[in-house]
Amino acid sequence: MVFPKFHPDSCALIKQYLTPALFGQLAPLETRTGFTLGAAIQSGIKNPDSHIGIYAGDAQSYNLFSPILDPIIHAYHAVEETFEHKPGLDQILLAPLDPDKAFILSARVRVARNLKGFSFPCHITHQNRSQVESLVSEAVQSLPRDLKGGYLPFKGLAPSQIQDLLARKLAFPKGDRFQDAAGINRDFPDSRGIFASNDKKFMIWVNEEDHLRIISMESSSDICGVFNRLRLGLDHLSHRLEFAFDKKYGFLTSCPTNIGTAMRAGVHIRLRKLEKNHKLLKSLVNRYQLQIRGTGGEKTSIDKGIFDISNKQRLGISETRIIKNLHTGVAAIIEAEKNL
Ligand code: ARG
Repeated sequence: MVFPKFHPDSCALIKQYLTPALFGQLAPLETRTGFTLGAAIQSGIKNPDSHIGIYAGDAQSYNLFSPILDPIIHAYHAVEETFEHKPGLDQILLAPLDPDKAFILSARVRVARNLKGFSFPCHITHQNRSQVESLVSEAVQSLPRDLKGGYLPFKGLAPSQIQDLLARKLAFPKGDRFQDAAGINRDFPDSRGIFASNDKKFMIWVNEEDHLRIISMESSSDICGVFNRLRLGLDHLSHRLEFAFDKKYGFLTSCPTNIGTAMRAGVHIRLRKLEKNHKLLKSLVNRYQLQIRGTGGEKTSIDKGIFDISNKQRLGISETRIIKNLHTGVAAIIEAEKNL
């Protein structure tokens, strides 16, 4: 096995941490489902602008390839070398963030989950992916009244129908080139679909980057209400589905950036003044351990002064703490915007 050739311009963590000695040690290994380091780093080799450049093909990948994954996780999540997942999903009640509806357009919390016993999306077989879809579409039938809704499979939909659903945020597109190189897009849109509650405030993306992306959102600033709805849904689903979990790594996800709580909680917020004072906004975001994205999703740019602001930490911090920190940080950002 030859040592992989990373692009000379690549700054990916996989390139920084994969030494020839580590490669020699790990390249001959295979997980029980046949996943290898060679497959795990394909996306990082093909995409020189990768930040991480490695995906997990199954739960066992995290243990078998820990000599390369642990230093990457340590660096990305800025956790101690002896990092450990910290659970804590308590009901939260906090003061309203933006009672006058002057800044916040919407709030959203999502968690990623994979089913125990199945390979993750970059490595799963066609048949197992379809089983995952069946298990999830059965499990959602037991959701409580407020979360009731329907599962819509994408298979068989005309491209124009998918376009229409995408515009209404009731579908997710085929994954980006990072996911493509990792093998996550195979057979799209087979066995992909979305469960949406009748009020469209609770959704589950099935077989996107992870088996499940469980999402709670609404057009308000009520981040606690959104989080509490997610807790309710998760609680019901975890009686029907067993999720891939590890005491040290937390919830196991395709991408090592998502492990731990696997949670991203954020708001879409209009900041007309801070938009012109980027330095101040950046310093606030860093102080409260938040991150900025465009509202079109990951790796999109800011449009019309509307920012997506969400938590940066997911590992070694509880879900409840993430929401509390987000609340404190966003309140401080709103205060700064008002004072400008
Ligand atoms: N593999 C990509 C990279 O290394 C994505 C990383 C995080 N994003 C994600 N959707 N998992 O940059």
